[in-house]
Amino acid sequence: MQSLAHYQSLIADYFETSSVVKEPKNLYEPIQYILSLGGKRIRPVLTLMATEVFGEDCKKALAAATAVEVFHNFSLVHDDIMDDAPLRRGHETVHEKWNINTGILSGDAMLILAYQHFEEYEPAVFRDLAKLFSKTAIEVCEGQQYDVDFETRDDVTLDEYLKMIEYKTAVLVGAALKMGAIVAQTSKENADLIYDFGRNLGIAFQLQDDYLDAFGDPEVFGKQVGGDIIENKKTVLYLKALEFANEATREQLMQLYSIQPVDPTDKIESIKSLFESTGAVAATREAIESYTAKAFQCLDQLQISSEAKAILHAFGLQLMGRNA
Ligand code: IPE
Ligand code: IPE
Ligand code: MG
Ligand code: MG
Ligand code: MG
Repeated sequence: MQSLAHYQSLIADYFETSSVVKEPKNLYEPIQYILSLGGKRIRPVLTLMATEVFGEDCKKALAAATAVEVFHNFSLVHDDIMDDAPLRRGHETVHEKWNINTGILSGDAMLILAYQHFEEYEPAVFRDLAKLFSKTAIEVCEGQQYDVDFETRDDVTLDEYLKMIEYKTAVLVGAALKMGAIVAQTSKENADLIYDFGRNLGIAFQLQDDYLDAFGDPEVFGKQVGGDIIENKKTVLYLKALEFANEATREQLMQLYSIQPVDPTDKIESIKSLFESTGAVAATREAIESYTAKAFQCLDQLQISSEAKAILHAFGLQLMGRNA
């Protein structure tokens, strides 16, 4: 197994050689733009790591890893339209820099381009990758629709929220790992276990994303801090705050979550202090740890070397403490 930086540079090199900007420019430039802003690239790194963990050369997984990352970027471009987000990876979002129609079509094209990368594989592997990809992509759409539906509902439960984040975020993390397992042609047991490792890690990842959206450092987070509060997103922080609050505080929070002021500064500050004072922040930290621990239980059961387990374990811990 290699260092994280090693996998990241393999992916960066592969992206460089496989990227082309052709006509029409307004379709391909936004794609190049969002991909070149980079991001953490955790999903393709996980695909490469999984292939290597199961004893195959990780370079074989580069096409599948790229498919996962291009799909992820497609979902971000459309997500930023849906969330009315101005900032992504410290830069203007695609629909702000160009316009909404450009974001829609460049996003659509990325979804197709993602799929094309599977053509690198022989039929049996291609079929398994494509099946997993299609299942995952439709679940991401379902999760995204729940997320939007919840904005205007005031009776969202924690279980509904957990299902929503599992679909919009966690299944892709699981799929990224399972694709590495498919490329390596490991056992079904291993492939399913590494999927579950990723799914639980992905839930923790989205909980952490919700936390950072409110409490992250604007300098390093790369997205608009407070964006979820502005959009009245029913995040774990909000649901836990409602659960813990007394009647008066609950009403205050629900009232704040029903307004859309022109200047949201005061709304964001009031809500953040309620998140703190009700204990919602502490409960969110605990939930992140608990889903990470669940992920590690799946990891323990995998039939792989203890060195490989240690590397995946360290990766999981790193995600839990991330600030971007
Ligand atoms: C952002 O994903 C979307 C979520 C599922 C929270 P990342 O935090 O992995 O974004 P990048 O790719 O590193 O920018
Ligand atoms: C991300 O949810 C889910 C997908 C992009 C599919 P968010 O809306 O929380 O992601 P960020 O915070 O904008 O990256
Ligand atoms: Mg968003
Ligand atoms: Mg969103
Ligand atoms: Mg978010």
